[in-house]
Parts: sequence; structure tokens; C-alpha cells
Amino acid sequence: GGLGTAGCRQGASPETGADLSSDAKAPGQFEVPLPIPPVLKPTRSDGGTDYYEITQKIAKVEIIPGLATTVWGYNGIFPGPTIDSRSGRRIVVRHRNELPVPTSTHLHGGHTPSDSDGYPLDLVMPVAGAVHQSGHGSHGTMKPTKVSDGAKDYVYPQDQRAATLWYHDHRMDFTGPAVYRGLAGFHILRDDAEDALPLPRGEHEIPLMITDRSFADNGDFLYPARDNTGRSPGVKDDFDLGVLGDVILVNGAPWPVLEVDAVRYRFRLLNGSNARRYRLRLDKGETSPFVQIGSDGGLLERPVRRKAITMAPAERYDVVIDFGRYKPGTELTLLNELGDGSTGKVMKFRVARTARDESSVPGRLSQFEKLDPAKAVRTRDFSFERGDEHTWTINGRTYAPGKIFARPRIGEVEIWNLDIDGADHPVHLHLDQFQVLGDDERAADPGLKDTVGLTAGQKTRIIVRFTGYEGRYMLHCHNLEHEDMGMMADYEVSS
Ligand code: C2O
Ligand code: CU
Repeated sequence: GGLGTAGCRQGASPETGADLSSDAKAPGQFEVPLPIPPVLKPTRSDGGTDYYEITQKIAKVEIIPGLATTVWGYNGIFPGPTIDSRSGRRIVVRHRNELPVPTSTHLHGGHTPSDSDGYPLDLVMPVAGAVHQSGHGSHGTMKPTKVSDGAKDYVYPQDQRAATLWYHDHRMDFTGPAVYRGLAGFHILRDDAEDALPLPRGEHEIPLMITDRSFADNGDFLYPARDNTGRSPGVKDDFDLGVLGDVILVNGAPWPVLEVDAVRYRFRLLNGSNARRYRLRLDKGETSPFVQIGSDGGLLERPVRRKAITMAPAERYDVVIDFGRYKPGTELTLLNELGDGSTGKVMKFRVARTARDESSVPGRLSQFEKLDPAKAVRTRDFSFERGDEHTWTINGRTYAPGKIFARPRIGEVEIWNLDIDGADHPVHLHLDQFQVLGDDERAADPGLKDTVGLTAGQKTRIIVRFTGYEGRYMLHCHNLEHEDMGMMADYEVSS
């Protein structure tokens, strides 16, 4: 069975990972309307702070029409509810854990104090006290550094510019399976400077979380189980390269369709997949239909027109597409040029009606400080390499919690050289946004980034100013299977 072509595993390349063929019958494409995750309301507010509550729990949801899928969801839904909040406004999110395993929640892209950052061993234990021993990962026994019983208040000062952030589970050794089961949601930050721009807004501004999953014939997600050596019995070794599904979900729906007005739309694209990279393209119409206005860390200085958008796991691209160029009735398919067969298509836009367009994309969007390499006080080298069987390493070591690889000082600018082996590695830095410096092989990136999608053999330099908070943070690969198999390192910021 399966969704693949005639039983052969499709789309797997040695650089990307192992496809898991679904056993469930393929849902039709472009039949399910695009869902938009609900926006979470604060439970209360006081002078300086908005308070939110999220319950992490198991629920059944309908993803493939007619089948029930068991998800681990924030509030029981996948994606979780969207937190839509203001830059500079402090929020507190109480995460209550009703799952059967411990969790740790990370706000990806957040400028967050260390004890709310979702360190892999800052665990929130299940509320019922039914703690299932989480066992061993591929690299040692897990000893929690901090434990919260049943719930934890994560404090986010939000002292950062407007940006599309997201939150997801980050537990030691088990981030891949936890996120795959559904623990991911949007966290949008807005500010006055962005609100003052005439960009598409309201129902013309839409977050799109793109993920891939495979399904068992009862509708449940298929994820290869791992034994305590990191091996996946019954799955080829190339699972080490990351888990790839054969069904593309956008906001949790398989190959959905969105009816659009013939006006500009702003899409906040997030690659929420464990391991899959995408190159997104429209099947017809303009040659360069994507106007990129933002990146991981918020708006670019100026818009950049693109033919295609290449996204590694965890990267965000904020793009405007102008459907005003098409007649009602036109259908445009969003393709993934890096996939094939079922994974070569993502979703469809159907231009439904003409409408007045009040929006535009100004030539000047925002401003941020361009960090000058001459100002860097230090250069550090990080190499990302395959380790022994079923491990991945940074500078030759698998993740060792508490082993500090770098001690940057608050206020200082550093250059980090990232050197990548023969696999693809999306490299993510917690706490501060960086800039990708150009070199001979790779153009400088116009945006502020927290994740850079590096491919086999690439080297790049990132430049970053550490702005605080003090404490322990992480640098890691955001291929979640690589992360779980050791490709992560601690660094510590001090003043
Ligand atoms: Cu989105 Cu440390 O991760
Ligand atoms: Cu990796």
C-alpha cells in the first residue's frame, strides 16, 4: 500500500533522509480547505503582562478525511493555537503537561531568559504523576537539571522586534518524535513600526506551517521507534538522516486548498518539518511571484523578489503573493521542487473573486543594524559531522548537557564559522538573531536569522551580537533526528 508510486520509496536522497511510506490510503489533493490555527486569548492581563495557558495533551483529530489521528497537541490541536502578541509586552505562558512523558517547551527565535528557554533537561513532568521513565537516548542517561511538577510558567519579556516565531517541544533525546506527534505552534510578535506599513493584513495575512508526515492505516502518525542505541529496528539505517513523510500537511491538513480574493496576501511560511527541505514554486503565472518581506528575525530592510523559496527545517519566510494578477477561476499550485510524487505538491490557491486591494509593499520595510565583521572580538569554529553509528556531532562530540562550548559576553560581537559535512544541516542558535555573511560560495542573507539551512559541504560565517540574558543556551542542528542523535552544544552567556 502506501502513498508512494508502486511501492517504491520515493524522494529519498542520501543527503536528506529516509521516506516512510504511509500505510493509510492517500487522501485526495486540494480537497480539504486550509485550516488556520485559532488565536489563543490571554486568561488574564495586568498592567504589564498577559497570561496564557496551554494544556499539552493527547487528542484525536481528523487529518485524513474519515480517519482519526492521535496527536500530542498544545490544547489538543495540531498545529497548536497561535500566540499573537506585541513586541515589548511581557507574557507568561503556563504549560500544563497532561502527556505521558516529560516535556520542555522552546520559543524558537525568542529572546528568552535561560530558565524559560526550554533547555532539554528543564523538564515539566506529567501532571498525573504517571512519569514514564524516558530512558536512554543515543548518548547517555538523562538527569534533569530542573523539574517542574505538572506545569511551568514560561516567562517571555518579548524585548525583540516583530517576527514570526514558533514554539515546540525540546526534550532531551526526544524532540523529533514529540514534534512529529504535533507539539508545534505559531507565536507571532507584532510592533508599531510594522503595523504602520500598508502590508496585507487581517484575513489577507496567513501563517502557513508546512510539515510532512506518514500515516499508519488506522490514521496514526508513523514514526520509527528507536531502541536505546538509537537504532530503529526494521527501518533502514538512513533514518539517521532524518524522518521524511510522504504526506504534505499545511497547518495540519493534507495538500489543502485556499480560496483567495484577487489581492495581495502575506504568508508567514514556516518549515515545521523534522528533516525535509522544500523549494517552493508556483506552477504558473509570474516568473518571480514571491516578494520576500521578512525572515526568521522579522522584516527585511527592502523586499526581495524571488522565483522560488528554499526552506530548511525551522526557517521562516515572510512573503507577499499578488493574486490580483489572475482572473477569478485561476488555480495556482504551490509545488515543492525538491520533492517528487506525493511530496512534490504542497497546496493550491483558487482565485475566487475580485476585490479592492488597499495593500502594497513599500520599497523600504524596516531597518536593523548591520554587524561589521571588523567589530567582532572573537571567531569560533564549529564543525557539524557524522559521528559513530547513529550519532551526529559538533566539534567531534555528541551532546553533553553542561559541557560549555563557548562563553560569549553580553554586548560583544562574534563570528562563528560553521563547517558542514556531507549531509544537510539547518543550524540554529538560541537567544540572539544572527546575520549570514556572504563568501565565495554563498551570498549574504538579507535578513536576521536564527536558523541557516546549510547543505552538504557548505561552510558559512554568521555574525551575532550577544545581547543577554545571562545563562545557558544552545547551538544545534534543526534536523530533529540529528538533534536527538547528539548534534547539539551548550554555550553560556555572561556579562
Ligand atoms: Cu526550534 Cu533549539 O529549537
Ligand atoms: Cu543535521
